[in-house]
Amino acid sequence: MRRRDFLAAGTATLLTSAMPVPAALAQTAANNRPGLAMPPVLDATEKGRVDLTAQYGSTAFFDGAVTRTMGYNQGYLGPVIRMAPGGLGARLHNELDVPVTVHWHGLLVPGAHDGGPHASISSGASWSADMQIDQPPATAFYHTHAHGRTASDVYAGLAGVIHVTDGRDDDRGLPSAYGVDDLTLVLQDRRFDARGRMTYDLSMMDVMHGFVGEVMVVNGQIDAIAAVPKGMTRLRLVNGSNARIYTLFMSDDRPMHLVATDGGFLDAPIALETLVLSPGERAELLVDFGDGRSVALMSGGDPNQGPMGMMGRMRGVIDRVVDRSFTVLDFAVDDTLPTRIETVPDTLDGTMPDLESANVRTRRVSLDMGMGPGGRMGSGMMGPGRMGRGMMEGEGFRGPMMSGMGVFGINGRPYDMDRIDFEVGLGTVERWIVESPMLAHPFHIHGTMFQVIREDGRAPRPEHRGWKDTVLVTGEIELLARFDQPAPADFPFMFHCHILEHEDRGMMGQMTVS
Ligand code: C2O
Ligand code: CU
Ligand code: CU
Repeated sequence: MRRRDFLAAGTATLLTSAMPVPAALAQTAANNRPGLAMPPVLDATEKGRVDLTAQYGSTAFFDGAVTRTMGYNQGYLGPVIRMAPGGLGARLHNELDVPVTVHWHGLLVPGAHDGGPHASISSGASWSADMQIDQPPATAFYHTHAHGRTASDVYAGLAGVIHVTDGRDDDRGLPSAYGVDDLTLVLQDRRFDARGRMTYDLSMMDVMHGFVGEVMVVNGQIDAIAAVPKGMTRLRLVNGSNARIYTLFMSDDRPMHLVATDGGFLDAPIALETLVLSPGERAELLVDFGDGRSVALMSGGDPNQGPMGMMGRMRGVIDRVVDRSFTVLDFAVDDTLPTRIETVPDTLDGTMPDLESANVRTRRVSLDMGMGPGGRMGSGMMGPGRMGRGMMEGEGFRGPMMSGMGVFGINGRPYDMDRIDFEVGLGTVERWIVESPMLAHPFHIHGTMFQVIREDGRAPRPEHRGWKDTVLVTGEIELLARFDQPAPADFPFMFHCHILEHEDRGMMGQMTVS
């Protein structure tokens, strides 16, 4: 690594927030910038087997400051699992003291193999699933989904990335050399205490808006620099943050060519200036580094955070007053790396969604933050203007403010593992109208890829035209989904907000598909 070249420009990637990171920590990071590492690869394409162990780890995000973390097969996060269509035997062993699952977010498998809350296994136990992978190439995600502890345990590290591949990316003209011109980037934001240990202490505001950190962590590393060849590089982005919504752009505004969404390739690349990526979403971009210049991937502020946080519809207002943008990842062109691809392909072989919408069943899904029995945020006693100081300072989650608060649900009801919310017909298409009355919520459905057909009353944005399993709902999203995977009552599919603090507190429902 030629990291020496960048020392002068080095500043730690610290996000602005109410909780400043001690200067000493920023200094440590600035003076010692590592090269970005890729997760190790667990290649299941040949053997059709994946063996995972959920385990504890000791991770020094900052030199000399060790945090107790969790990971799959390693101390923090998990390997990139490469899999190809065909049979896949998966096994998870739990070495932790707490219950765990492995949910395959983005794999189209039956409810019994999906690894949702009903597949939770206790300490010392194992779980296995004999799956069939039958879907186009895609970048998917896996993480624990034990109800009530998904947020804390994903935060601690129980998450990883899946590449579903058919080995034909050369034919598509796409970069595919792992860690060279095909980079996997898990974007996370974390908080650290004065000694540099990662912390997860929820205040009432963290629960309401979702927990965001001040320090950007990519693939478990702080302030790393990604070496790229002087040519086209593929960035497989996974938003593995608990709650942070990124508005991504390149520091010199060069285009980012979107080639794949959650469900896989588009029919042709789409050049974007900005890309909003909310928790649980994935996107594959091509970025041209052919001019040899060092640039950064940046993000604007989170629409759910800051003084205007509770008023999701006023997002953007604060950004016009204060620039809240920050560096997600710095890139440095390394011309010793081979340049394999120099142009963006004109077309791709993905199939765009075009589901039949006539005579389909319509369901309404309201992502609710109640303020007590029957009450809704904004219409009840606690309007945005009354988010008092007392809540931000001191009054912990279990404090007196707790009574009547933190009621998260869907259609007015918090998640109940024993209640089936929807019964969907196997092989049918449905229209779901999903609304977020207050904050922006990333809405995710298990067991399907869907088509966004309307977004706040308009045609979907370009980046929402491909197959999706998670979409940010800022007002109202209308989607079509076909449910081709079965899910019985003992292993139903979830649908939920992917702000993990909201999900754990009940902004989730479940359905059978039969
Ligand atoms: Cu990424 Cu239900 O989860
Ligand atoms: Cu999922
Ligand atoms: Cu939410």
